[in-house]
Amino acid sequence: MNYRVPKTRKEIFETLIRGLQRLEYRGYDSAGVAIDGNNHEVKERHIHLVKKKGKVKALDEELYKQDSMDLKVEFETHFGIAHTRWATHGVPNVVNSHPQRSDKDNEFVVIHNGIITNYKDLRKFLESKGYEFESETDTETIAKLIKYVFDNRETEDITFSTLVERVIQQLEGAFALVFKSIHYPGEAVATRRGSPLLIGVRSKYKLSTEQIPVLYRTCDIENVKNICKTRLKRLDSSTCLHAVGDKAVEFFFASDASAIIEHTNRVIFLEDDDIAAVADGKLSIHRVKRSASDDPSRAIQTLQMELQQIMKGNFSAFMQKEIFEQPESVFNTMRGRVNFETNTVLLGGLKDHLKEIRRCRRLIVIGCGTSYHAAVATRQVLEELTELPVMVELASDFLDRNTPVFRDDVCFFISQSGETADTLLALRYCKDRGALTVGITNTVGSSISRETDCGVHINAGPEIGVASTKAYTSQFISLVMFGLMMSEDRISLQTRRQEIIRGLRSLPELIKEVLSLDEKIHDLALELYTQRSLLVMGRGYNYATCLEGALKIKEITYMHSEGILAGELKHGPLALVDKQMPVIMVIMKDPCFAKCQNALQQVTARQGRPIILCSKDDTESSKFAYKTIELPHTVDCLQGILSVIPLQLLSFHLAVLRGYDVDFPRNLAKSVTVE
Ligand code: G6P
Repeated sequence: MNYRVPKTRKEIFETLIRGLQRLEYRGYDSAGVAIDGNNHEVKERHIHLVKKKGKVKALDEELYKQDSMDLKVEFETHFGIAHTRWATHGVPNVVNSHPQRSDKDNEFVVIHNGIITNYKDLRKFLESKGYEFESETDTETIAKLIKYVFDNRETEDITFSTLVERVIQQLEGAFALVFKSIHYPGEAVATRRGSPLLIGVRSKYKLSTEQIPVLYRTCDIENVKNICKTRLKRLDSSTCLHAVGDKAVEFFFASDASAIIEHTNRVIFLEDDDIAAVADGKLSIHRVKRSASDDPSRAIQTLQMELQQIMKGNFSAFMQKEIFEQPESVFNTMRGRVNFETNTVLLGGLKDHLKEIRRCRRLIVIGCGTSYHAAVATRQVLEELTELPVMVELASDFLDRNTPVFRDDVCFFISQSGETADTLLALRYCKDRGALTVGITNTVGSSISRETDCGVHINAGPEIGVASTKAYTSQFISLVMFGLMMSEDRISLQTRRQEIIRGLRSLPELIKEVLSLDEKIHDLALELYTQRSLLVMGRGYNYATCLEGALKIKEITYMHSEGILAGELKHGPLALVDKQMPVIMVIMKDPCFAKCQNALQQVTARQGRPIILCSKDDTESSKFAYKTIELPHTVDCLQGILSVIPLQLLSFHLAVLRGYDVDFPRNLAKSVTVE
């Protein structure tokens, strides 16, 4: 969204489309835009909607096919909205895509991330009032509801933000919303609850404030008057953000910083139930109720993320780039935290809570997908270093079970995006029960990083490929670092700690060595890519490697793949083994080596032809292997970082050979912000 910077319609399109393309990794079944219409005289009184099924590229092409649209027409004040959808209610098609509209004249249009859980009741109510629905979406209810509130307003000069405020009082569920209306030309209102939303601010000129005060309806009669009865432009200028003087300022609303980072790195993160309005070039934020814990203002923060960090570089896919970035991302996770001279680890975000954590009765580590696997991968070393019971939990299952949580529990929430709905709900569940909450995320300012009591930012840099790779290895290392920090005073653990810290130091170099096997892994993929199924087997420290490797294969190659605990082989999976079924076995020189050898024997006895990931010096396993991938050796509890990389590479090559879009696997989204 831009304000008072004259732009042609073409430039507006380009800004919106580029923003959407940067967000495509979050979901991509359809996309749409709403911009001001073509009538030059009353251009801001007409909203033009263009929507298209499929990728953003299809929408981009569609925009230029619109004969009625004059691309050169200039707008001094303009406000466009755009959305890329990942279906929750209703199949992916044009009608269900966003923006959704209030009526055929597009009086109100809205874009939405999240789910409205009471939309059926609202829809029934609105239908009883004569509103006709055209889509199957929950979002359309919002568009109709705002029109209903507008049609039934008690005063002519009701503000746009008041309408939105009334709308969200009726909504249940999760949402980030941005509204546009022909009744409020050039104005924008955005709000959120449970789904992320931020505002980028760009201006060449000095801004009126760096902290924008929040207005509350219930605490200040004057404000109530302002918000209810007058246009926002009449608000006191100290409650608004604008450029000093009559200068241009642009505001960008987005659900993720990557959409706007090329325009500005200055952002305001909205809190749940904030209502942000731009009117007359000024941004104001208000809330209906004040709660004791509310921060009375929202600061403009400077993000460190750079655009080139989220570009593909020379790689054919973001996922490939991210796999190859691991020597650096792993180093960045440790940078400034692990002191290799003194053998100490300091995680700044946890240091004030360390005493409390040390006193706890157990650790619960919660996540979804790959993040959950990072918890499985480090459970044993955490148990060893913290000497505490460690539970690892899938967020959805943890909630389904209403798991007992106590005040003296410490709960970790592992999430690359920091926005995964199940993990976020589990966090709120644990918080309500008085546990100390710790976030391990890759996204500064994300909901999980803000709502936890303390945490660690894994510093892996933006991860765009839907299938997570570098975030896994950095989450893994963050949890190991936590264990090391907890065990600093344990005399009996000093030798072990030193061994692990030495292991951490050499990891970036060893990862490079593993990455140099890429060609060999490509050749292996050539042999395997026509298969329907692929088993990945291991145990101990490498059980998580198998789960994560199999998940990568499933996610992007659409082959059936299972991560199998070798200890369970005899209890079922062995029945799958025959001459045809490819079996990858992870056999490392660790305390489970002998047991893995047994599993290997069992597989070969059934004419299986195992592909073995093993240590370079392992002459024993290779004797029985159909193929081997030899990996450098590191300390047992870190070996999983090296052994997962060949499986990341293998899944990548398999997906390319099978002709699939590696970064955007069908039916999956990078950030699952719905339950
Ligand atoms: C989705 C992604 C996975 C990711 C999982 C958890 O399913 O496709 O790659 O591991 O969500 O995401 P989080 O952001 O919480 O780590």
